[in-house]
Amino acid sequence: MKIDFANLTKAYDEHSAEFERVSLDVMSSARYILGKEINELEASLQEYVKSDYALGVSSGTDALLLAMMALGIRGGDEIITTPFTFIATAETIACLGAKPVFVDIDEETFNIDVSQIENAITDKTKAIMPVSLYGQMADMDEINAIAAKHNLAVIEDAAQSFGALYKGKRSCSASTIGCTSFFPAKPLGCFGDGGAVFTQDRKLYEKMKAMRVHGQVKRYTHKYIGMGGRLDNLQAAILNVKLRHYGKDIERRQQVAKQYTELLKSYVSTPSIKEDRTSVWAQYTIRIKNRKEVQSKLKEAGIPTAVHYPIPMHLQECFAYLGHKKGDFPISETCATEVMSLPMNPYLTTDELEYITSNIINSFR
Ligand SMILES: Cc1ncc(COP(=O)(O)O)c(C=O)c1O
Repeated sequence: MKIDFANLTKAYDEHSAEFERVSLDVMSSARYILGKEINELEASLQEYVKSDYALGVSSGTDALLLAMMALGIRGGDEIITTPFTFIATAETIACLGAKPVFVDIDEETFNIDVSQIENAITDKTKAIMPVSLYGQMADMDEINAIAAKHNLAVIEDAAQSFGALYKGKRSCSASTIGCTSFFPAKPLGCFGDGGAVFTQDRKLYEKMKAMRVHGQVKRYTHKYIGMGGRLDNLQAAILNVKLRHYGKDIERRQQVAKQYTELLKSYVSTPSIKEDRTSVWAQYTIRIKNRKEVQSKLKEAGIPTAVHYPIPMHLQECFAYLGHKKGDFPISETCATEVMSLPMNPYLTTDELEYITSNIINSFR
């Protein structure tokens, strides 16, 4: 058996006629930037997330940059986040000259350990940036309460959690600004780079809207230093199709995760989702001690796996200037050596799941 990790081929095939029709419409319209497809998408995203405002942007990375630029983050500011994440989280903070201040994760959820946040706050702290890792949101009520007490903004790095629920609220609607990614392999992915920002604050929305187009408020009139951060019409057209089917995709991902857990829980440490929230399962990630060996046995059996992420941010060469050393964030470091993501997509069959899990179990024998 040969297993596909994200199965983007099937995702295309399932709605290919619709994708082709809407793409041709955009191409033949000769309107490629900020057209009706974007307006339609932003209205649907805003309605789906139940935020007051939504803006399509060029990627999840640019969503984070734009959010921080709109909040006025600059050199010398500090942003609290976790070291157990994809590079973009910490990198965008550093790009603006600000300092990523790391707080270790909670071993159960892989998300920021809220009990350690207040210790990391200084008079330079401007925002907290929780990452909704693998598709599950962090403890947003506690984070928002700390932020309110210290007058900080909260930016949710929701690149992996679009559609997830926290106490009935959608990811991206429970913070000052929510930032997501539509990278192809994300739960809601387009056919290239894409992302979105969400807020309830009209002023921030207007600022981000201008900043996404070089800070322009009128043609060639620039109120702010901005960026080239638009989502293009072709990607918006694809997302308009995909968003209509997204509820079903999430349900299937959740079904796959449930089956994985049932088949594996007696043998390995399986992911845990808190009772008051759901995951959209950007990744189904287990923890094992002999990862390298298991990965190579699975590879031989045609089962791809991945490691999200092997080196925590504080030990990355690019952040050496922050002066961290091994042992500073022990939970992140242990998880980095043990986590292994299994194939995850809405199309995995029971036969495939049984094949994957029996190979994992056999690899321990
Ligand atoms: C946690 C996290 N943050 C940010 C990003 C950046 O998103 P993009 O690849 O769309 O720039 C990603 C995507 O890979 C991510 O997983």
